[in-house]
Amino acid sequence: MDNKFNKNKNILVNMMRTFYQTKQANLFGEKTLEQKYLELINGEYNFSNEIEVLDRIDWDFKDFTTQYLTHTFHSYPARFIPQIPLTFVKLFTKEKETVLDPMCGCGTTLVEAFLNNRNSIGNDFNPLATLITKVKTTLIDEKEFRYFNRKLAVMKRYLDLDYRRVDERINNLPNRKISKIFNRVVISKLEAIRETLLEVKEEGHKDLFDFGRVALSSTIWSLVENGNGIDVDNLFLKKVKSMQKELNKMAKIAKNVPEVKVICGDARKLEIKTNSIDLIVTSPPYVNALDYYRAHMYNMLWLGMDFDLFRKHEIGGHSHFIINRFRLLSEYLGDMLRSMIEMNRVLKKDKLCVIVVGNSSLEYELIESHKFFAEMGKKIGFKPIKTIFRNIDKTRKYTSADIGKIDDEYILVMQKLDNTDVSADDDNFISEVVREQMISFREQIKKVQGTSIRGRKPTKERLLKNIDKISEAIESIPKDIKIKR
Ligand SMILES: C[S@@+](CC[C@H](N)C(=O)[O-])C[C@H]1O[C@@H](n2cnc3c(N)ncnc32)[C@H](O)[C@@H]1O
Repeated sequence: MDNKFNKNKNILVNMMRTFYQTKQANLFGEKTLEQKYLELINGEYNFSNEIEVLDRIDWDFKDFTTQYLTHTFHSYPARFIPQIPLTFVKLFTKEKETVLDPMCGCGTTLVEAFLNNRNSIGNDFNPLATLITKVKTTLIDEKEFRYFNRKLAVMKRYLDLDYRRVDERINNLPNRKISKIFNRVVISKLEAIRETLLEVKEEGHKDLFDFGRVALSSTIWSLVENGNGIDVDNLFLKKVKSMQKELNKMAKIAKNVPEVKVICGDARKLEIKTNSIDLIVTSPPYVNALDYYRAHMYNMLWLGMDFDLFRKHEIGGHSHFIINRFRLLSEYLGDMLRSMIEMNRVLKKDKLCVIVVGNSSLEYELIESHKFFAEMGKKIGFKPIKTIFRNIDKTRKYTSADIGKIDDEYILVMQKLDNTDVSADDDNFISEVVREQMISFREQIKKVQGTSIRGRKPTKERLLKNIDKISEAIESIPKDIKIKR
């Protein structure tokens, strides 16, 4: 009886796995592009073949399903599509090996590692990012969900009677700023939800507390995007229901639940053991592209998260060096070099480090970050193996055109050849490499100015000033690359 049950369960699990990893089969029996892709990455290859397989993939992944299972939990700016980490996880790791994303954002890499039975570590300085990542990779059993649903049913029953406490609630808000953007009804309801979640935590259900906070955060995000006129409690309850459904599906797909560790920390100083990682897949922030704390300011405030520390250490944030934007570039290159030294340290020898990044622009000049990273890699024990170009969906909201519009992406694949002998704190080494890179960037700009003019036409004099600005930025490298304490 037990055997029969297990056999049926396995069949069901396999059917579900196939269903969620592929789109429904074409009615005429023809394979979809997505099915062909899955066949390719599920094949057995040896190392050099796997690198060749990379050439047979259409990296644009046009019309592929990217929103499934826990990937649907929460929006996050500039996340990459799951097929990027999935490809490398499948081709370059075995079950139970460990995959790292040192700037994991909302945990796309970790979810794909989880679904394919790989252990994973995610690190990000943004506390909202690590909360979302943890919740997307933590299974919760049915009994716990039944307790949670009872709790929410009681909350819903008394919610409308509860408006009398609105003044008290406004006074108790975790931050006064948030009382300015929502009306009184919305504030009262959001606070009632937050209070219920705090009770859940006090009653000892920490995973449910985090699960509920992600649903609340996502609800607040929708309100900020769509305005006050929405039915808050129903929006929240609907979100909870759909998240439960996706997590239950994921529980059925995950074979033996792999280990997951999520760290809220700095990529320039990873709290991870040396030579312990089998694969890194990550996408760092773009220089000057967007401030992550700004994108989620209201949800973070409501969850009582302190984003000041994150703002101070955020890589690529565009709120500093307003007068000379090229100083931002040296700071960014310094931060990325430190992060790459750390990636090299934690990765095992011969394993791959995959960095996904787009071009950006500063003062009308094109910044090809992947080229800077490949050059840095060579100095710290990595061998660049290939750079894959992909078009990305231009309708995705990355950043404003003024800051640097991003419509293509590069996947830099490097192999760790040696342990680097430099440390991420070595300011002299960092200064030296950044200086070399900034000088060669200036030489390039001297030949042609305005390499990234989009729309507006600056004068020639204005563009020539960039050369002086870069020279000035080079002078202040030793100061600008220092980590702010
Ligand atoms: C492009 S996003 C990563 C998105 C991710 N690949 C995903 O799919 O969700 C870049 C991430 O770098 C993080 N970050 C910025 N500065 C950091 C730092 N000093 N240490 C760790 N993470 C940092 C940001 O918080 C952001 O989540």
